[in-house]
Parts: sequence; structure tokens; C-alpha cells
Amino acid sequence: MTTENSAAILPVLRKSAELRARIAAWRSAGDRIGLVPTMGALHEGHLTLVRRALDAGERAVVSIFVNPTQFAPSEDFSLYPRREAEDVAKLQALGADLVWAPELEEMYPPRFSTYVRVEELTDHLDGPHRPSHFQGVATVVTKLLRQVAPDRAYFGEKDYQQLQVVTRLARDLDLGVEIVGVPTVRDPDGLALSSRNLYLSEDERQRAGILPRVLAETADAAAAGVASLPELLRAARAALTEAGFGPIDYIQICDAETLVPVNALERPARIFVAARLGKTRLIDNMPVGRSNLP
Ligand code: PAF
Repeated sequence: MTTENSAAILPVLRKSAELRARIAAWRSAGDRIGLVPTMGALHEGHLTLVRRALDAGERAVVSIFVNPTQFAPSEDFSLYPRREAEDVAKLQALGADLVWAPELEEMYPPRFSTYVRVEELTDHLDGPHRPSHFQGVATVVTKLLRQVAPDRAYFGEKDYQQLQVVTRLARDLDLGVEIVGVPTVRDPDGLALSSRNLYLSEDERQRAGILPRVLAETADAAAAGVASLPELLRAARAALTEAGFGPIDYIQICDAETLVPVNALERPARIFVAARLGKTRLIDNMPVGRSNLP
């Protein structure tokens, strides 16, 4: 929602009881609620999700919580950028209605021992490379969806596997929420916006634009039938290695719904990549058979 709200101070709530009271008041006024789950360090990709909720006339609730259970011990939990004051200022300017920034113990009380695991979809792509990641995501997103009980929740296609996992869990667990996927927002050179782009050095940031270009060219060549998919993917891998990316965890074309890797284009498919540039792990994906870059 916008109007009188945009001038008001944006509330930042940290306790479930306060959140419940606010949501109940909106519900009794007949308001619809849109949730944008984030880990903060907000960029234009996140703000696009918030605008979608506002444009739909929903109370826009943005959660900011760096979720420890989706990081492996070797990953960047402690380094992950935390910029709450800047985030709140951006959301205030946009006219968002509420920031839900729970304390760790609100989310994970002592002796927390219940997790949500989504099968099948997590067998592919990032699943094998980040073994506990999707269990952490599925658990925290289930909790956020239960706490806020939104009509709709918005997720970027940049994390396409996450979007599919969340869509599946919302259906399987009867959460009664519509999951809305929103196309990736990209910089002018095509690099998908990500909070982790902040880790890139100036030189790495220059080179990072090669990743979406290789992805788009490979997707176009696949759609045009220029060569077999394995041949095109081998060439893409070589081009990324040549440009200094590595290790490359995967570059694959997968069924857009099941995420199973395919060797021929019989159903809607997407191309996916995860590759390191220096210390930063970049992921991206695009539909095969559509024009992909800005
Ligand atoms: O995409 C993210 O930022 C996170 O994985 C999410 C969905 C907020 C869960 O922590």
C-alpha cells in the first residue's frame, strides 16, 4: 500500500507478538498482505519485489534475517553484508509498510529441532554442492510464511531453484499463499543483481559480465539447434574457464519445472550456472529460447 503510509515512519519489528498484533489489525481492516523475504543488503532486485506487492495494493512486509541454517560452516555467514539502517531507509522511501527483522532467538528458540526438507528439486544444481542449504531455506521460509501469513510472497528468479523449492513447499504444506516469481534484475552489462556482488573486486566486477553473456549465447545457440546441448555446454564451460572463472560447480540445461538436466529441448528449459570468480560464488540462470539480456 502507499498513500498516507509513505510519509509515516516505517516500523521495524523484532518480536513475534508485535508482528502478530500488526498483522491481525490489517486483517480485520480487510487489507491484503504481500511478503518479500530477504537477508538484507537490499538492491534493486529486492526493491522490484517490494514494488510488485505495493502495485498489487498489498501491505508490503519485508523480512530481513540473515538465516544461519542456510549457510554451511565453510560459507560466508559471518561476512554476509548487514546494512539494516540503509535497508530501512530504502524501504521507507519506497513506501513499504513493515520490516520484520526477528532476533535470532525469535526464529530459532533454544533446542530448535524441526526442519523442512523438500525432496527431488534439491537433488540437482545447488543441492549436491550445498548439502544443507535448501533445508535451511525451506525451514526459515516456512516459518516466515506462518508468521506473516501473507496472501502472496515474492521471490526473484535469480534464485530459480529456491523459487521452485518454495513453490513446492507452499503447495505441499497447504500454506495457502501464492508464490510469485519475478524476473531477474540485471546491471547494464547483464550481471544479475546479488548482495554477494559486493564481494567482487573492481577487476572481478568488470569480468563478471562475461557470465550472463556466455549463458545467453549458449541459451540462444541451444534454442537455434546450433549443436548438441552437451557440445554447447562444453564450449560454455571452456569460455568461462578462459575468462578466469573456476571452479565451475555446474553449467547445465534443466527442465524448468523439475530441474532435471536434459540433453534435448522437449519442454520449457533453463540454463543454470554456478561458478567462482576469485572468492565469490556467482549463480545465474535464464530461460532457453527467449531473448535474455537487457
Ligand atoms: O533469497 C534469500 O535472500 C534467502 O534465501 C531467503 C529466501 C530470504 C531465506 O533466508
